[in-house]
Amino acid sequence: MLAKTMAGLEQPLADELVELGVKDPVIGNRAITFKANHELTYKVNLWSRLALRFLRKVDEFTISDAQGLYDGMGKTPWFKIIGVDQTFRIDNTISSDFFNSPLYAVQLAKDAIVDQFRRRFNKRPSIEKEYPDFTLLLAIKQNHCTVYLDSTGDALFKRGYRISTVAAPINEVLAAGILRISGWKPEIPLIDPMCGSGTFPVEAALMGMNIPPGFKRNHFGFMKWPDFQTMAWKKCKAGIFREQKDVELAIYGYDVSKRNLEIAKENIRLLRMHKDIHLEHMDFLQLDPPEPNGIIIMNPPYGERLIKENMQAFYRNIGDTLKKKFQGYTAWIVSSDMDSLKHIGLKPSSKHTVFNGKLECKLLSFKLY
Ligand SMILES: C[S@@+](CC[C@H](N)C(=O)[O-])C[C@H]1O[C@@H](n2cnc3c(N)ncnc32)[C@H](O)[C@@H]1O
Repeated sequence: MLAKTMAGLEQPLADELVELGVKDPVIGNRAITFKANHELTYKVNLWSRLALRFLRKVDEFTISDAQGLYDGMGKTPWFKIIGVDQTFRIDNTISSDFFNSPLYAVQLAKDAIVDQFRRRFNKRPSIEKEYPDFTLLLAIKQNHCTVYLDSTGDALFKRGYRISTVAAPINEVLAAGILRISGWKPEIPLIDPMCGSGTFPVEAALMGMNIPPGFKRNHFGFMKWPDFQTMAWKKCKAGIFREQKDVELAIYGYDVSKRNLEIAKENIRLLRMHKDIHLEHMDFLQLDPPEPNGIIIMNPPYGERLIKENMQAFYRNIGDTLKKKFQGYTAWIVSSDMDSLKHIGLKPSSKHTVFNGKLECKLLSFKLY
């Protein structure tokens, strides 16, 4: 299997996969490879908070020219995987001198598959860009081709719990990754003073109660696989209720925007987590710590909205407030505004580079003595 994630989350994802029962994960670039049977494939899709998707390796071969791709693809018995009346799509990551355009490689791979069907059945599965039954990933690095079958469907950050959203929400996978990097545990108070739509509080509550992030999803790619094991999947889903923990959580979310706080409230109420997450309308600069110590995770607004000097002053005020009022806490700040981050005025204890979608961000931690 190949697990895909965001840059900077590889090691935390490998640790998470080991907790889920994976043996000897191998860390790559935004990816982890490991071995899995059906049960484990279903389990990691349902339970992983840090992966974007999981793909099963179907074939691997080397080529000496473009025709080699057509020949290699033709050797996989696609007719045993894809039904003739089903649909598929081929995604790609290609860097090879044999192909001057990735589309040419995808076209050859597609031809190899449909020609195989035509020869056997005089019929062929069709291409569907939006909602295909199967998504293949064709990865070519120079002369080395690997073909994967996507087991996930919609990317795993689409948890299905976000009903409404704010202007710049943090990606759910990144939020879960930051919580994990921060070392937050359910018994530690967690404060998100700029919670927006409530992604950090919700991801933390899901972690604390041991509810899988995919608990609201009804569909995963593997359900269309010809060897899908319904019983194994049912068993995996039945585990959700068994694993759930009834814990006391101290999770606090605040926001200066009434509108954003209403959005967080709506999301959290629909998840029936309104008793587990304390939400309040508050300017961080006026906030008094609700607990004597804990972890603060903060995703302040960045760039565009405020003019630069205002933004720098705002970040300076964040630093001052942390310094004056939040002794005993560890604060984690994630932002893409590298210039303003320098104005926090505290010495970071750690620095990570992470990505919110395509946006490069710094994740800094500050121990407040
Ligand atoms: C980048 S968004 C946070 C997004 C959030 N992490 C999410 O996933 O939805 C920044 C948030 O900070 C809030 N904010 C800005 N200034 C604030 C302040 N002084 N005190 C509290 N919240 C503030 C904004 O209203 C906005 O909701």
